[in-house]
Amino acid sequence: MRYALERGIRLIDTAEMYANGGAEEVVGAALSGFDAVPRDDVFIVSKVLPSNAHYDGVIDACERSLTRLGTTHIDMYLLHWRGSAPFQETLDAFETLRTSGKIRYFGVSNFDAADMDEWYACKGGGALAANQILYNLSRRGVEWDVLPQCQKRGVPVMAYSPLEQGRLAGEPVLSQIAARHGVTPLQVALAWVLAQDNIIAIPKSVSHAHIDQNIGGLDITLDAEDHAALDAAGHPY
Ligand SMILES: NC(=O)c1ccc[n+]([C@@H]2O[C@H](COP(=O)([O-])OP(=O)(O)OC[C@H]3O[C@@H](n4cnc5c(N)ncnc54)[C@H](OP(=O)(O)O)[C@@H]3O)[C@@H](O)[C@H]2O)c1
Repeated sequence: MRYALERGIRLIDTAEMYANGGAEEVVGAALSGFDAVPRDDVFIVSKVLPSNAHYDGVIDACERSLTRLGTTHIDMYLLHWRGSAPFQETLDAFETLRTSGKIRYFGVSNFDAADMDEWYACKGGGALAANQILYNLSRRGVEWDVLPQCQKRGVPVMAYSPLEQGRLAGEPVLSQIAARHGVTPLQVALAWVLAQDNIIAIPKSVSHAHIDQNIGGLDITLDAEDHAALDAAGHPY
């Protein structure tokens, strides 16, 4: 994590679920006493489990996350996916946390278009700052409804698993485009996500070489021929 921060990465995505809080502790340890990158230069995203999404559960879960992260605030706090807790309760808790400065923004994850409509119908639902969803070259179904809805409502999209957990590396069309640009197939996959409007990507890597390659993905500009080839590859949705 410190290597990535030194190379300019500024967004860290974590969740109370990951390693039962262990991932948040790793983030806290990486940031603690790390003079090269001050805490306030980093944007921390964490997530509350649906099983904790009732009003009191959200408040308590956030406190636990703050302790593990060793910070006074979470920059973006997301509902990890929808569960049985009423959205209004989760929203009210998010608003309480925002007012007290414990979170700066709040959003949702894994919401489909109908979930978003329901969220927006709640009091204060318009303050949605992100929807974090599965999106990559082999997972384009959200282009039919969720992405246009986020665009229309001005909700930024965070694309998780943008490399399909590495499985896109074997796609022949990506290899062909990569060879043309002198880059790797997964860099092309990442550049494709990043080329979409209103979307950021959160690839994960524990390898210094891969972190460097992923940062390099920011400098790759795919042309119309590349986009046409990727669209024509016809991935099953
Ligand atoms: N909201 C949600 O429900 C949700 C669900 C899943 C994930 N997420 C978030 O999204 C993040 C990323 O998703 P993900 O880990 O599922 O999938 P991913 O980022 O698409 O893929 C990660 C895999 O790709 C490999 N990789 C990364 N960069 C590479 C490169 N340049 N060349 C070759 N291999 C590369 C990694 O191996 P190395 O580590 O060895 O590089 C790792 O095995 C997660 O860390 C998590 O924060 C959120």
